[in-house]
Amino acid sequence: MNHTIETILEHRSIRKFTHQTIDDALLTTILNCAIAASTSSFIQCVSIIRVCQQDRRETLAQLAGGQAYVASAAEFFVFCADFNRHKQIHPEAQLGFTEQTLIGAIDAALMAQNALLAAESLGLGGVYIGGIRNNPQAVSDLLEMPSHVIPLFGLCLGYPDQHPEKKPRLPQSLVIHQEAYQPELDKQILNDYDNQTRHYYRNRSNGNKDMSWSEQITTALNKEARPFMKDFIHNKGFSTR
Ligand SMILES: Cc1cc2nc3c(=O)[nH]c(=O)nc-3n(C[C@H](O)[C@H](O)[C@H](O)COP(=O)(O)O)c2cc1C
Repeated sequence: MNHTIETILEHRSIRKFTHQTIDDALLTTILNCAIAASTSSFIQCVSIIRVCQQDRRETLAQLAGGQAYVASAAEFFVFCADFNRHKQIHPEAQLGFTEQTLIGAIDAALMAQNALLAAESLGLGGVYIGGIRNNPQAVSDLLEMPSHVIPLFGLCLGYPDQHPEKKPRLPQSLVIHQEAYQPELDKQILNDYDNQTRHYYRNRSNGNKDMSWSEQITTALNKEARPFMKDFIHNKGFSTR
């Protein structure tokens, strides 16, 4: 074990923060860590928008489905796939390929995770906010994003004012496949994991939430997942071909 590995394994999302601000030097370090991430083909197609104005924060909190910590966290960043920069450098750039959308999402996630881990290693905590995709057009308008720029997710950072239990993950035996994909799900191992997650939720909710992981994903996958996203990204010039 070393400090890096301990930091990674101690992760839990933080949704309640103290009023302490993040020192400028620390913030610069965290953002340098984000920018240091690997980038597909050196394309560097990610922008990060730091939102400080309180009224904008409150609007974003509402647009994200009423997530108060978007307004109250010391810092809030919006990670965007961004080919506008490239369009300015090379106006004839061939854009709109689905591959480029994937690259934007992958690179943004790598940058964000670098930022979150760096922050966690410094005693900060945070949570990603996919909720901003509930209203992607409004978020895009609020933050004045041009064509070829789309908001992917947010990240709240601040000093933790809670220490939630670690949320159990699927065991390696269900996630790691040897040599080739193993299509058969081991039901016994899944059952054990379901019991673990049910126990976690019961503990965390004082018995009010009694749900296994299988039940949770059944509910989650029984409804539409932001079907407006396809038109939104097309209109922004992404995944048109
Ligand atoms: C891309 C992404 C978007 C997320 N969006 C939200 C969100 O909008 N609101 C929220 O409270 N948590 C959000 N989360 C946090 C997840 O709910 C959380 O990571 C997951 O439940 C596992 O819990 P843990 O991070 O505490 O281990 C998001 C996580 C990811 C990776």
